Amino acid sequence: MSNTTAAAVIRRQDYTPPAFLIDSVALEFDLVPARTVVKNTMKLRRNPDAQGDASRLELMGEQLEFVSAKIDGVAHEDVRISENGLSIGNIPAGDFELSIENICNPAENTTLSGLYVSSGNFFTQCEAEGFRRITYFLDRPDVMSTYTVTLRADKAAYPVLLSNGNLIGEGDLPDGRHFAQWEDPFKKPSYLFALVAGKLVCIEERIRSGSGKEKLLQVWVEPQDLDKTHHAMDSLINSIRWDEKRFGLELDLDRFMIVAVSDFNMGAMENKGLNIFNTKYVLANPETATDTDFSNIEAVVGHEYFHNWTGNRVTCRDWFQLSLKEGLTVFRDQEFSADMSAGDVDGAASAAARATKRIEDVRVLRQMQFAEDAGPMAHPVRPESYVEINNFYTMTVYEKGSEVVRMYQTLFGRDGFRRGMDLYFQRFDGQAVTCDDFRHALADANQRDLAQFERWYSQAGTPRVSVRASYDAAKKRYTLSLAQGYGEASEAARDTQGGPLLIPFSVGLIGKNGADLPLRLEGEQEPNGTTRVLEFTERDQSFTFVDVNEAPLPSLLRNFSAPVIVEYDYTNDELAFLLAHDSDPFNRWEAGQRLATRELLALAERAAKGETLAIDDQVIAAFARVLDDTTLTPAFRELALMLPSESYLAEQMAVSDPAAVHAARVFMSRRLASQLRDKWLATYEANRTPGEYRPVSEDAGKRGLKNLALAYLSQLDDPREAVKLAQAQYDAANNMTDRSAALSALLLASATKGADAGVADAALADFYRRFENEALVIDKWFALQATQRGGPDRKVIEIVRKLMQHQAFNIRNPNRARSLIFSFCSGNPAQFHAADGSGYAFWAEQVIALDALNPQVAARLARGLELWRRFTPQLREKMHAALSEVASKVKSRDVREVVEKALAA
Ligand code: TRP
Ligand code: ZN
Repeated sequence: MSNTTAAAVIRRQDYTPPAFLIDSVALEFDLVPARTVVKNTMKLRRNPDAQGDASRLELMGEQLEFVSAKIDGVAHEDVRISENGLSIGNIPAGDFELSIENICNPAENTTLSGLYVSSGNFFTQCEAEGFRRITYFLDRPDVMSTYTVTLRADKAAYPVLLSNGNLIGEGDLPDGRHFAQWEDPFKKPSYLFALVAGKLVCIEERIRSGSGKEKLLQVWVEPQDLDKTHHAMDSLINSIRWDEKRFGLELDLDRFMIVAVSDFNMGAMENKGLNIFNTKYVLANPETATDTDFSNIEAVVGHEYFHNWTGNRVTCRDWFQLSLKEGLTVFRDQEFSADMSAGDVDGAASAAARATKRIEDVRVLRQMQFAEDAGPMAHPVRPESYVEINNFYTMTVYEKGSEVVRMYQTLFGRDGFRRGMDLYFQRFDGQAVTCDDFRHALADANQRDLAQFERWYSQAGTPRVSVRASYDAAKKRYTLSLAQGYGEASEAARDTQGGPLLIPFSVGLIGKNGADLPLRLEGEQEPNGTTRVLEFTERDQSFTFVDVNEAPLPSLLRNFSAPVIVEYDYTNDELAFLLAHDSDPFNRWEAGQRLATRELLALAERAAKGETLAIDDQVIAAFARVLDDTTLTPAFRELALMLPSESYLAEQMAVSDPAAVHAARVFMSRRLASQLRDKWLATYEANRTPGEYRPVSEDAGKRGLKNLALAYLSQLDDPREAVKLAQAQYDAANNMTDRSAALSALLLASATKGADAGVADAALADFYRRFENEALVIDKWFALQATQRGGPDRKVIEIVRKLMQHQAFNIRNPNRARSLIFSFCSGNPAQFHAADGSGYAFWAEQVIALDALNPQVAARLARGLELWRRFTPQLREKMHAALSEVASKVKSRDVREVVEKALAA
């Protein structure tokens, strides 16, 4: 490993402009798996904005074999080679041309960063700092250059040769070789460079963009996957149309390509004109992909396409500004998916579809980002420092970053937000800029001072808003008193916290009959709407509504208008009322979640003390009403009837006790199953989707609710009826959503005391045989088993250890490693946190194994124990031992940063 030296901390405050600029670069590749030769010819000049010394040119390079350097065509002697790159002295005074030749070894590159081989084909991944593993360069995002790329390779082995931009030449060479030449007309930072070479095939479409120019769109995959590319292509075309319509942004290249690769560290990468995707976010047909896969593909295709403007045309000055592109682009993909699910029409159905998407996004934020903010890796949306930048592609930068962008839109409306975006591109197109630049554009376009809003970028931790309400019946005044703070933030978060935030706090008031009351704030002439966004800017602030004729029930933080925790003491009655009546669908869902969370946490406390469990019938009744309410969409009912996850619940406890949470959640699920048995059965029948599979949100919602009903039924004391349904569903399924849900139900039913495991085992074996050649489906097969419910005589760790030996398991493939190892370590908390520490020992082994192969993936897994201090003393001690073991053995900067922060906190 190259990065074994003591961890250097990089700080935002230390930013300095580069000493040199690279205006253009010509790259030539002779692609050979174990020995690729790279010729890199750069036109350089001194940066007029540089501060300090430019006597030597310091180029970054890692894991490269240096061959030669020439300046203006003459062999150059003053070159010092180090682990981190080249230092070149004796530089000419004016502009100059530097040509470097070096060699790299893609065949042995298991890190999947830089140039690597996957299934015999070549791919690159350069964000954040992978380009320096291909050639020596100023590998930082504020150095933007135009690129010309020549690829040469054996024609039979690598018939397809792709890079960024436009194809400007191709032809044959001696010895069965051929070449292709590509030119990208737009300046870009090195992290957006890409090349692909190999045996690939594509589907293509020609479309006309908004201004009438013809565009060639391609989706490239391995030959056996050609029948799984249509949804990605449709998603791409929809993305192009949406960005034209919503933001007036057009595709700027003549050609836009998507390539799928099965070995990939993350979801996808927005390389200019040549997006490279994890196969998981491209390949889909009804037999192999679930509804969730279909919608993830739409979202990720959109995300990468939207980066073409937010990230590529306007990029980041330095990596501390990562959320400038990621938060904004996540916001854009969320809005895109919401608009797609809502269709072209307005009205109740589309509002419900948008709300469903919003709920799903907030669930991810609260489950994952809030947990991150509570632990040792907590950091602001714009971090102040890092050791390894790859560790900062986080929930905070992405998901909280998106919430921060969403707040501008909540404050200024869609039109105001659009004005801000227009000004942003007008000012910064072609430049590498900062989060401050973005905020100033939004502020200036809306004539607002947003200085206070900067705190959303600089403060870590999840803000808490506590609410007190008082009603003065005589004066008909209703006052909400809000207080903001951070509660017991983690130490990592506390360091960054300053003054109060500007929180857009959306509220409504609900009357006795369940309808919204008109809202008139003190000082206003007349009522104005039934939902108001209060601008909450002080530590303590009161808002008074007048003309309030009855004591209302407040609906707080409608549509989750800010990424905060709201503390307000609703009674169970009030929550049941909100669940039945709130006009804000998000808060309707939220009321049900609060009700369930409160009940589950009380159950968990009792379970921890070994007391018997019992449930409030009122809670069951509230859920029954949702199940019966066919005015609600199936998708909404599914979300409302899903209990909060075990990891979310454990995090809400003063001391996390995964076993107690599991007992509580299983108990409540079984009570819901038995008390509402007939309703679940009726719901199952009413939500079948016969006929041809369509991946549309309406059908997906039905399948989701139907399969949730099946999951509840599988938990009955006597699950025989559910098993029959599941078996029939498995056999008859014409799509992966239904087939995998049936398999999962069979596994769940087999976890019941005294159940026969034979049926589930047979289905698992059948599933494997059917889909043996579909890697993404086999990932599901591993994940289903790793996340299955365990029991006293079903220790999932033993099943997982056995599956590690399976011929289809391969730790080098990140999707496969995630499907088994990560699924178990983060998707099965009750089993992972087994009292004997067996889960932690497994975790330590796998982090250490991955550390030597793929530090980025290893570091993700390493984060699995970061909340160790919050657990029961018995678990805490065993987690600490596992962390210490890992810390003593791992070498990569990536994993070291994670475990050292976890141990230090
Ligand atoms: N920029 C990519 C995105 O958000 C994600 C990304 C960053 C990435 N680093 C990566 C993808 C490394 C793969 C590998 O879309
Ligand atoms: Zn992104």
